[in-house]
Amino acid sequence: MCGIVGYIGQQQKAVDAVLDGLTALEYRGYDSAGIAYQDGDKIIAIDKQVGRVQALRDSLGDSKQSNSAIGHTRWATHGTPTIGNAHPHYNTDKTIAVVHNGIIENYAELRDHLKKQGYVFVSETDTEVVPHLIDFYRRSSNTFQEALEQTLDQLRGAYALGVMTSEEPDVLYAARLSSPLVLGVGNGLCIVASDPSAIMEHTKRVVYLNDYEFVRATSDGSFQIKDFKNAVPVSRETETLDYDAAVANKGDYPHFMLKEIYEAPQTLRSATLGRVRVESSQVKLGGLECVAKQLRYIDRIVIVACGTSYYAGLVGEYLIEEIAGIPVEVQQASEFKYRDEPFSRSTALLAISQSGETADTIAALKKVENYGVLRLGVVNAIGSTIARMTDAGVYCHAGPEQAVASTKAFIAQVTVLALIALHLSDRGNELYKPLLAELDALPKKAEAILEQAEDIKKLAQKYAGYRDFLYIGRKYGFPCALEGALKLKEISYIHAEGYAAGEMKHGPLAMIEPDFPTFAIATDSPLLEKTYSNIEEIRARDGKVIAIATEGNETIEGLADDVIYIPRTLEQTAPLLVAVAMQLFSYYVAIEKGLDVDRPRNLAKSVTVE
Ligand code: AGP
Repeated sequence: MCGIVGYIGQQQKAVDAVLDGLTALEYRGYDSAGIAYQDGDKIIAIDKQVGRVQALRDSLGDSKQSNSAIGHTRWATHGTPTIGNAHPHYNTDKTIAVVHNGIIENYAELRDHLKKQGYVFVSETDTEVVPHLIDFYRRSSNTFQEALEQTLDQLRGAYALGVMTSEEPDVLYAARLSSPLVLGVGNGLCIVASDPSAIMEHTKRVVYLNDYEFVRATSDGSFQIKDFKNAVPVSRETETLDYDAAVANKGDYPHFMLKEIYEAPQTLRSATLGRVRVESSQVKLGGLECVAKQLRYIDRIVIVACGTSYYAGLVGEYLIEEIAGIPVEVQQASEFKYRDEPFSRSTALLAISQSGETADTIAALKKVENYGVLRLGVVNAIGSTIARMTDAGVYCHAGPEQAVASTKAFIAQVTVLALIALHLSDRGNELYKPLLAELDALPKKAEAILEQAEDIKKLAQKYAGYRDFLYIGRKYGFPCALEGALKLKEISYIHAEGYAAGEMKHGPLAMIEPDFPTFAIATDSPLLEKTYSNIEEIRARDGKVIAIATEGNETIEGLADDVIYIPRTLEQTAPLLVAVAMQLFSYYVAIEKGLDVDRPRNLAKSVTVE
């Protein structure tokens, strides 16, 4: 899941524009960074460094004058993070340079074929076959574009490519198959990127490229798009981005993650804005109106998602079943794709994704493309692939999420799933009105948890030295336990497991010892007594317990070593408040360990390869 950027324009500011774009895309991968730019010479100038974009800036030194550049920030798939494996990759005489996000699945056979033609490879990457293959076809093609099209015809897998050649210094090419690619159109400039955050500083006018499309952009700001599968030109109107650069910076916060945790109250408000009318007990989801008729016949929902979105889906399962009475099954998208389960036309597939670009979730949607089933989406990133490939859906409106660890998106996803449950239910359900009213009251309650940040910080410092953690919960608390464990894992690198509390006796209890603390979700619910018993079982083995409980619960004081209290709320909405407390805990544990919370090792924000 790399980030690519390409800039072509009349002004000599391509290198700075690409470096700024790469910095905005760094959440997609930060193993190495590289840039190629036209500098009037016969060969293309290239610089690449291991590590963050800043290392590349330092190595480039003073600002380079060029009107055309392509750049890359890498999340290694093939080959370790070295300068040799960093992008851009190029042909032997450096007249062609390529940056790539995705995986060329048939690169080995292409490489063998090219080696037989005398080509010498200098990296372990799949991407390096592209500039050599273009070079190979350029020997016999009439134009560079023809050689590029012949190359695209040979590539299998997923790619967003940025391509430049010293043969056409005033032209930039970019092509897409599965991996996201956006074209920004400005006055006298074009900029292509993996997502709009690298573009919005230059223009708000964008074109989202579809699969099997490439663009030829020129320095006067004009462009042509072509469908290279059907060899036909494509004309497309530009769309306007509806958010600006300001939302994508940290403000006074030390990290995006902390900023995004503190956005919980606003995220709750934005997710319900214009969708909830408490006084008339109404929920209005405009994004589902176009499929209102089909929705009436839905008798089963299959939710597909990955990571934190999958755990939000598990909370949605309880909400939709309990409030709308429709059976729900939640599946990890990476497994769903390869299952042969029967699908009836009255089943809807609901894909949940923050980025809207997760390859496994896209593949799950593609799998049922011809099944005649309704494909719905709960997505945060506006205009993303999943948003465009679903029949209808609901945006989360959480704003861009920059930190790799998803926080506010989880809050927004669960809130939207609660709205969908209400939307699908007949308003007679006894939970309808209380839930509607509670959604309205939650922002204040989330603020009350954020006010406990200092106490949660002390708790995190107390537990930051442990190497193993267990998270347990029952019913709505179970997905919370899974999500809490994921948050701690991905930013503090501590081994943490989420478990249904009732499963403890069936194995995990064996792990319990004084150095293996447990985080117990023990908020008010009809199952609280049962959770108390699980805590007792752990205490009986000298296990330490941190509990999240509802304010006013005095019993828990006698059971747990430490307690985080959340304001009183419904069992159904407790996950939204519990999540904020768990996010703060994991954030402060990672800070205590001196780790880079926004850019945890080995991860990337948007997983665009399977
Ligand atoms: C969560 O903190 C992780 N970043 C990851 O598990 C993420 O939730 C997963 O990759 C799904 O991403 P999506 O919501 O953008 O599809």
